[in-house]
Amino acid sequence: MKVLISPDAESLGRAAADMFVAFAAEYIEEKERFVAAVSGGSTPIKLFSLLASGDYRDRIDWRYVHFFLADERFVPADHEDSNYRVLNENLLSKIPIPSENLHAVRTDVSSVSLAAALYEDDIRSFFGISGYTLPQFDLILLGIGEDGHTASLFPGSDALAERDRLAISVIDQTHEHPRVTLSLPVINNAENVIFLISGEQKALITKRVLEERDDTLPASLVRPENGHRYFMLDKKAGSMLLELPE
Ligand code: 6PG
Repeated sequence: MKVLISPDAESLGRAAADMFVAFAAEYIEEKERFVAAVSGGSTPIKLFSLLASGDYRDRIDWRYVHFFLADERFVPADHEDSNYRVLNENLLSKIPIPSENLHAVRTDVSSVSLAAALYEDDIRSFFGISGYTLPQFDLILLGIGEDGHTASLFPGSDALAERDRLAISVIDQTHEHPRVTLSLPVINNAENVIFLISGEQKALITKRVLEERDDTLPASLVRPENGHRYFMLDKKAGSMLLELPE
């Protein structure tokens, strides 16, 4: 596990964009593709807009980059709460990426469980897998909620116990929209997981996940078996850490 602390939100965004460019170059060189699943929320917006900017845009051969979502709200793709909309408006619509490289969750179907099943089919078809074989994403970019959730895996949720499905529907009373999320086994099978965490309001949860290893927190359950885990923080988010874990 690596903990990387940037002075502020701006430099955190740049550090994350540099990591993304480096991973993309490495995997495209090695496998002629770079497959990333990204989260919603507000933290990644700075990263997305940087990757679409002149400084970064042309440093990646977008023809070989494939985007999935770590989770999605079951709302129309242009809805203000859509994770795909955030990704599209800040990045996808500004880069020369082939449409077949974009793997959104189908939120135009009759139910969130059908959306999860179709997403799972898309994942299996893309990775050429079947049965219980897990896909291996090159990178899964995650955020963390103040309650310790990550993707749409919330504390106490049955979804945390899912071991067979690749993508699952999440419906609960505390969240406005039903959601589709990658399951924990898929996240833990990634080659690289980056937690991107910014702001004072995340300092306590970051400390709990990094120093207390509290397994009641979904983010604490993200421990890639054979992959690398990075916590990319700004100073404010890391302000309650006693010492930097190894
Ligand atoms: C979602 C996200 C979610 C997010 C965290 C952090 O769909 O809501 O995937 O898991 O990463 O809630 O969100 P912020 O970056 O806005 O703090």
